[in-house]
Amino acid sequence: MDSIEKLKENARRAWATFGPTEMLTASVAPRLVRLAGVTAGARVLDVGCGTGVAALTAARLGATVTGIDLTPELVAQARANASLMGLGVDLREADAEALPFEDASFDIVLSQFAHMFAPRPEVATAEMLRVLKPGGTIAFSTWPPEHFVGAMFALVAKYAPPGPPGVPPSQLWGDPHVVRERLGGAVKNVHFARDVMRVQVLSVQHHRLLMERNIGPMTKLVEALGANAAPRLAELRAEFEALIALYFEDNHVRQDYLLTRAVKV
Ligand SMILES: C[S@@+](CC[C@H](N)C(=O)[O-])C[C@H]1O[C@@H](n2cnc3c(N)ncnc32)[C@H](O)[C@@H]1O
Repeated sequence: MDSIEKLKENARRAWATFGPTEMLTASVAPRLVRLAGVTAGARVLDVGCGTGVAALTAARLGATVTGIDLTPELVAQARANASLMGLGVDLREADAEALPFEDASFDIVLSQFAHMFAPRPEVATAEMLRVLKPGGTIAFSTWPPEHFVGAMFALVAKYAPPGPPGVPPSQLWGDPHVVRERLGGAVKNVHFARDVMRVQVLSVQHHRLLMERNIGPMTKLVEALGANAAPRLAELRAEFEALIALYFEDNHVRQDYLLTRAVKV
């Protein structure tokens, strides 16, 4: 298995615990779906759909929706969510870097906090644009490096063993300059917006625990340090709580994010 395949195998295992945090991402999914201009009858792909929050928000509007995700446990939960809502959505296990669809299959390609975790941005971008029809809309939400979640991923990188060379930090997808460069001349009408996900928690410690239990890369790091390097784990937790404290106010943590929308030429 090459280093990229190994990264994906690890990601597939790591994200398996994400399910309970669907309540947080469900709260902002309508924002992305609206920005993308989803309407009844539109053919929509949700890349990295997780438990299906954006896919099902789009399907509820009458769109014909497909959702893919790397992690089988989340796809199973997405199917259960679709069934609970009585919505017919095609939900499958697949990789953002190898989308199992014909060219120009979709009117809208979405990704909420997900395609940013594919290790090769140029490959995921090319795939998302390949399956989008000319004149179709690509829209995604990402975590900027200068706000809480981006800083959390930088903290994970500081304590984790180095990844394979050439894999950029996921949070660069939250920088509009980088986004413009990655989308390049394949799109026009690039539009950015910003919004905030407010996570209601009782304390900084509660938020640390929530992230440790459910956010795959943090979960795996804490497991590894807990097994091999307890003093490093204590250091990580102290630094993590100090970071959370910067964003904690009135029993919520402020998680700012970037939204991007563009039209394929
Ligand atoms: C933060 S979760 C977001 C899930 C969902 N979009 C939401 O808003 O709740 C990140 C998702 O990206 C998925 N993911 C990571 N790498 C992926 C890849 N290469 N291809 C497809 N999905 C991937 C994970 O399995 C996980 O479901």
